[in-house]
Amino acid sequence: MVRSEAVVRQEWWDVLRPPADLAQQCGQLVSQQQAEGPLDQQKLSQLVRSIADKPELWKPLVVVDPSRRRYRLIYEDDRIDVWVLSWMPGQGTGFHDHDHSEVALMCVQGTILEKQMMLPTGASRIEMTPGYVRTGGAGYIHAVSHIEGEPAVSLHAYSPPLIHVGQYVVDGNGILERQIEHGRRELMDHTIESIVGE
Ligand SMILES: [Fe+2]
Repeated sequence: MVRSEAVVRQEWWDVLRPPADLAQQCGQLVSQQQAEGPLDQQKLSQLVRSIADKPELWKPLVVVDPSRRRYRLIYEDDRIDVWVLSWMPGQGTGFHDHDHSEVALMCVQGTILEKQMMLPTGASRIEMTPGYVRTGGAGYIHAVSHIEGEPAVSLHAYSPPLIHVGQYVVDGNGILERQIEHGRRELMDHTIESIVGE
């Protein structure tokens, strides 16, 4: 990834503290899923669709920052966390998984690209436009990047909450390694993304 501008400092207070009214409304949408424990992929999908239908919930959390991909928590409890991600040109994740968490992601503005690794080299390519939802179970591996929109915006819901991510890195000998990172650390680009191309 080419970063032509200095990285803007992120205030974690802003990242992790959604306005109370937005979190409360999002929590009502979560409760409508009537899940006793963790939400499965279908319920996560229904949830992100219901949030997408209320732009007043997620639009206040959109951030325009050409220097890095930005993300804002919109809701969390002990079963789930939900994020608003803003993607500008050149921004993306490398290949990663979400450890134990199931996931639903939905594009709500612009276009993003989702890829799944195809060995020995290559990847699928799915262009996600507003309304497009992808879901995955624990162990789902993907990479997501910006295509169009300044910013492109997507909603991501994880259950159980995203505690760890696995990032896939190839060393100088071509050995693939899974590196475990905290789920709230921004996924950097120094991953297998570089060998399977754009
Ligand atoms: Fe992901």
